[in-house]
Amino acid sequence: MKQATTSIISTSEVMPGIYLTWLESPQIAPSAHPGQFVMVRCGEDLECLLRRPLSLHQRDSDKLALLFNVVGKGTHWLSQRQVGDKIDLLGPLGNGFSIHPASHNLLLIAGGIGIAPLYSLAQDALSKGCSVTLLSGASTASQLYPSHLLPPEIKLITATEDGTGGEKGLITDLLPDYVSWAYQVFACGPMPMYRVMSTQHLVKAKPVQISLEVRMGCGLGVCYGCTVKTKNGLKQVCKDGPVFDLDDILWDEINLAPK
Ligand SMILES: Cc1cc2nc3c(=O)[nH]c(=O)nc-3n(C[C@H](O)[C@H](O)[C@H](O)COP(=O)(O)OP(=O)(O)OC[C@H]3O[C@@H](n4cnc5c(N)ncnc54)[C@H](O)[C@@H]3O)c2cc1C
Ligand code: FES
Repeated sequence: MKQATTSIISTSEVMPGIYLTWLESPQIAPSAHPGQFVMVRCGEDLECLLRRPLSLHQRDSDKLALLFNVVGKGTHWLSQRQVGDKIDLLGPLGNGFSIHPASHNLLLIAGGIGIAPLYSLAQDALSKGCSVTLLSGASTASQLYPSHLLPPEIKLITATEDGTGGEKGLITDLLPDYVSWAYQVFACGPMPMYRVMSTQHLVKAKPVQISLEVRMGCGLGVCYGCTVKTKNGLKQVCKDGPVFDLDDILWDEINLAPK
């Protein structure tokens, strides 16, 4: 883990309120794995004293990309940075996803901005010769990650709650149709999505890794602000996670921030 001053190479609003920012980061990018995250300093004032956790979205040798939704002061500040501006990062942090060597068919489930950590996982899986199907869900079509930005080898299935893109309904409604094909399932999305998955028998029969997004203080295992209850005791999301087995989490006992 390193602290590094990085420099913005490009930044654009790829969906309403959602930004894709590429950073030159020779200290962090080469050692970062899919599912890991960085703590980003988002400004100098008191409210932004605590760094904000953002997932590694993409990596390309010395460069890394962040995909973030503007939800508050920190992410708004970040969205207003320009090419050449310096951004202070701490990372890479957390455990990341792991693809079993015998897994050929990977099913990825993205709920909204949950596509953020799954993109680099898909890239890794494709480079290892795996087949990747991505179930991508959002409230409405404009919030679906643009298909032209995804690697073309991915099989993409979409759903929106209002029916404006793909199937009408929740992305978890489609899960039973695809899960039997998969050796492993990887998911990132809001708390209700995980709760539904944890009750689906076909899903529970597979190895499922999920990325938990809770409010974080330090991101370094010091403040205990990110503790969750699991079948194996209390765990810190920043240090023991953010990736956990779906089955390990005691879903009824944790209160995660909505995504
Ligand atoms: C490991 C990890 C990886 C993450 N990766 C991404 C990512 O790649 N892209 C992305 O857009 N977001 C990601 N998040 C969520 C992101 O950290 C928060 O949205 C961000 O910290 C909000 O900062 P803010 O100052 O803009 O908002 P604040 O002013 O701090 O909060 C504004 C609103 O956002 C909610 N919020 C704040 N923090 C979180 C959080 N951690 N999770 C869910 N809701 C939150 C608050 O409840 C509040 O309603 C990740 C979170 C974690 C823990
Ligand atoms: S955020 Fe401080 S211990 Fe995890």
